[in-house]
Amino acid sequence: MMRDEIKKVLFTEEDLQLKCKELGEKITKDYEGKDLLVVGVLKGSVLFTSDLIKNIKIPCEIDFMAVSSYGNSTESSGVVRILKDLDNGIEGKDVLIVEDIVDTGNTLSYLKIYLNGRGANSVKIITLLDKPERRTAEVEVDYIGFEVPNEFIVGYGIDYAEKYRNLPFVGILDEKVYSK
Ligand code: IMP
Ligand code: MG
Repeated sequence: MMRDEIKKVLFTEEDLQLKCKELGEKITKDYEGKDLLVVGVLKGSVLFTSDLIKNIKIPCEIDFMAVSSYGNSTESSGVVRILKDLDNGIEGKDVLIVEDIVDTGNTLSYLKIYLNGRGANSVKIITLLDKPERRTAEVEVDYIGFEVPNEFIVGYGIDYAEKYRNLPFVGILDEKVYSK
């Protein structure tokens, strides 16, 4: 069972829903009258993006990007590659990048520069989880759901070797799973 491979549950389904409501309300206020484009980063932020946008009460567009991150290892390579780009131009739009977890900050610092260079009116970042201990790239994160310790996190969209994304909660993966 997947549950036996989770060392500790950090945030329950209820914690996550409450957080999405709180963040959605903030964004609704902050983006009133703006041309909001929500950009989910595949695949990790899919569950968070869908729960978040249900709590955004102003008109917005949604798109997704896919970038390479960890592969099947637990260590970041530091190299960012775009695997799927946005469907449309973003000139004049207020872009909100939705990330699952900010670790070294590599992915987001790259994405922010990339999207700013394409004529967006503004580019901000929201992440469900922040692992500040591991930050090496300088990047300003505008909205943060929860801080997490320097451990390997899975669930609610976040994977290890493409598994555990379907767990409805966020937890720490047991070392026995990846030290084998
Ligand atoms: P960064 O570029 O190092 O900030 O890495 C960000 C990406 O790495 C995230 O979007 C995740 O996909 C992945 N990642 C970072 N930490 C974890 C973790 O603890 N568990 C699973 N994926 C992670
Ligand atoms: Mg990711």
